[in-house]
Amino acid sequence: MGQYKTKLGLVGAGTIGKRHLQAISEVSEAEVVAIVDTDPLAESIAIERNVGFFASVGQMLKDKQPEGVIVCTATEDHLQPVLSSLEANAHVLVEKPITPSIEEAQQIIESSMRFNREVLVGHHRRYSEEIQQTKRVIKNGVLGELVGITGIWAVRKADSYFEPEWRKQWTSGPVLINLIHEIDTLRYLCGEIVSLSAKVSKRIRAHPKEESTALLFEFQSGALGTFLLSDVTPSPWTWEQATGENPNFPRTSQNVYRFIGSKASLDFPNLVLWRHTGGDPDWLHEISPEVLDGKTGDAYAEQIRHFCAVIKGKEQPRIRAMDGTKTLKATLAVFEASENGTEIQL
Ligand SMILES: NC(=O)c1ccc[n+]([C@@H]2O[C@H](COP(=O)([O-])OP(=O)(O)OC[C@H]3O[C@@H](n4cnc5c(N)ncnc54)[C@H](O)[C@@H]3O)[C@@H](O)[C@H]2O)c1
Repeated sequence: MGQYKTKLGLVGAGTIGKRHLQAISEVSEAEVVAIVDTDPLAESIAIERNVGFFASVGQMLKDKQPEGVIVCTATEDHLQPVLSSLEANAHVLVEKPITPSIEEAQQIIESSMRFNREVLVGHHRRYSEEIQQTKRVIKNGVLGELVGITGIWAVRKADSYFEPEWRKQWTSGPVLINLIHEIDTLRYLCGEIVSLSAKVSKRIRAHPKEESTALLFEFQSGALGTFLLSDVTPSPWTWEQATGENPNFPRTSQNVYRFIGSKASLDFPNLVLWRHTGGDPDWLHEISPEVLDGKTGDAYAEQIRHFCAVIKGKEQPRIRAMDGTKTLKATLAVFEASENGTEIQL
């Protein structure tokens, strides 16, 4: 008898939808049983995989009854497919941001509880080996007391990226599309962000959305953080280029975060630990780098494996709708802080 496979439906076979299809093909306990897309051209993707193709989520849920649904439509179109899937008793993995607004996210949280189905949010970095190792380094006190973190995400997005009109809107600007990953990663590694100030700017492209932001924040532990982000600046410093997680973005292997603690510091994601190994631990003495042994893996495939395990009741969700909503709230606070020129308490 063959291995039991968890039946998954995919809604939205665009950029990230295709990445999920690739990840599903790498996970032996998962299979895609249907693809939904309003664009008829996407039918070829379903034909290639010999799975059902639907133009409507409702019809797919009725005909295929998937155990899990992965929602990869544009952010402003997350809500309805998520609610319909929960109502049809499917668990959901919804791409990030969970929704564009806290009100919609709240509807998802309530529906998840009402139908007793899990909603995971696609903050896939939580499944990266480098993140897992960094979490252990911080938790085990290797850095001593965490004092701060500084990070950068700076890149020039291709002009073709902005061809769909929705990508020029604020719901697809780099704060909600990219910074939200950084904020989720930092919350996951360092704990809750309790306050945040920010400046947001747009000067280079004539789009309604923002282009750049600079942040100052504080974690519950008292650790401080700063972050600089822009999507109009050619640079080798982004998570994607650093890790090579997506072959579309050529790898640079540059570090993009620095964690500083009372005993040591860590360059990330190359996992270079800097500490004094002889004499007093101060700047009068030599400080040496040590590259920590790290595994690498496909975070998207690990996310699918985890989603199947959650559906089967074997694992607790690593990120539920409520947690994804906290990440959204901290991310939206960037706009509020910039507009009002104030520090936001979260
Ligand atoms: N986790 C990540 O790293 C990551 C990366 C990229 C995008 N995303 C997120 O994924 C989402 C989609 O982004 P994208 O870049 O893949 O967009 P995209 O435009 O490339 O793909 C969206 C797809 O959804 C289809 N679609 C639109 N309305 C639909 C509907 N009502 N029902 C079914 N299909 C519908 C479109 O035809 C298209 O194929 C966004 O929320 C984005 O923030 C996450």
